[in-house]
Amino acid sequence: MPMSPPNSARPIVAIDGPAGAGKSTVARRVAAELGFTYIDTGAMYRAVALAAQQAGIPWNDEAALVPLVRSLRFRFLEPRPGESGLEVNDEDVSERIRTPEISLGASQVAPWPQVRAALVTVQNQLGAGGGVVMEGRDIGTVVFPHAGVKVFLTASDEERARRRALQLQAGGREIEFEHVLREVRERDRRDAEREHSPMRPAADAQVVVTDGMTQDEVVSLLVGLVRKATAEL
Ligand code: DC
Repeated sequence: MPMSPPNSARPIVAIDGPAGAGKSTVARRVAAELGFTYIDTGAMYRAVALAAQQAGIPWNDEAALVPLVRSLRFRFLEPRPGESGLEVNDEDVSERIRTPEISLGASQVAPWPQVRAALVTVQNQLGAGGGVVMEGRDIGTVVFPHAGVKVFLTASDEERARRRALQLQAGGREIEFEHVLREVRERDRRDAEREHSPMRPAADAQVVVTDGMTQDEVVSLLVGLVRKATAEL
């Protein structure tokens, strides 16, 4: 069972939602404004895919993936602009986990229940003290069902594909919009339809649809939610 965090002025802030909703940048900024630690759980699934590739373990081999996951020591570094810093077994993987191939690998290792359980254990430890903004797909539903603040951040498919395309372009990759849109929908489908911990808003999450909102507006909305929740304690 995931632990219930203690009530405190430094709650756990769970931010879930689909790919391309602007979650990572927003979560990073919210954490910086509040002085909280930012934890990008998607980066952990990506790191598992990368480690499996390096070890020659197929992404569909759950039995071999589980001991691999348990052998990984995750250390989040100070986030850099546009990137969450992550070291795995003392190796900085921040850039290598951002390729399209590793995105695909992450979505293939993520459905395995024992892989998820092993990562959730680590995520519970990382967030136990509170004062964290943890971002993913199942934080408010599975990892920290008692999180002090839960947000499900989303946007229309087209809006998310447009943002993803811009992000890829900024990283020097030119990809056709229709292709990105198809990928966004395909990843959503896999994340929402998987049997274990599918992506869905927690019953008590605040759903924020960011179409037409600036990033500053989303950040201040979320910071406001956290301040309100802590003021009510
Ligand atoms: O957020 P991201 O694109 O970096 O996530 C990579 C993959 O990991 C994506 O397929 C969804 C999956 N994931 C998950 O299943 N549960 C999480 N808490 C975070 C990510």
